[in-house]
Amino acid sequence: MIKVAIFASGSGSNFENIVRQVQNGILSHIEISALYTDHNDAYCIDRAKALGIKVHINEPKDFESKSQYEKHLLTLLSEEGVQWIILAGYMRLIGQDILNAFPHKILNIHPSLLPKFKGIDAIGQAYRSGDIVTGSTVHYVDSGMDTGEIIEQRQCDIKTDDTKEDLEERVKQLEYELYPSVIAKIIQ
Ligand code: GRF
Repeated sequence: MIKVAIFASGSGSNFENIVRQVQNGILSHIEISALYTDHNDAYCIDRAKALGIKVHINEPKDFESKSQYEKHLLTLLSEEGVQWIILAGYMRLIGQDILNAFPHKILNIHPSLLPKFKGIDAIGQAYRSGDIVTGSTVHYVDSGMDTGEIIEQRQCDIKTDDTKEDLEERVKQLEYELYPSVIAKIIQ
């Protein structure tokens, strides 16, 4: 079994999707050690509780520095024997302490065809761009924002009569297939 931690800051629908695939035996070689979140009111916490997944809530404002925050996370990760980190809507750059401890062992999913539309509101950026396709990207995490080596992308149409919510839903559906399939291939 490979021990994996999932980091999330918000709704956690990708988190839930991955956990369900683990619990259903589709990702049978993976064990989710815990959800790590940086917001004590994030909806992903409710999902974790419903799914029976342990939660670590740590808000960076309660630490003296980003390095102290990450050192605390590293202590927890090490106590749990975590081997890989999966980011799923974790709205924070990973700092050097965690990057050094998990070289090429941190994945992220971003809702655009990187290198297009990095950063926040990638779907809104795509929606307003006039492009006719967008998609989602799974990549390794480095110190930049959505700049790490791309592993796999999947694309979908942007239709002329789409609302932004339609597009968000279409990209989410892609992500629910893309992320578990990359996890199955890469986390070995
Ligand atoms: C996803 O669209 C992912 O690509 C991005 O953040 C979003 C998280 O959504 N990094 P959710 O919290 O999993 O619903």
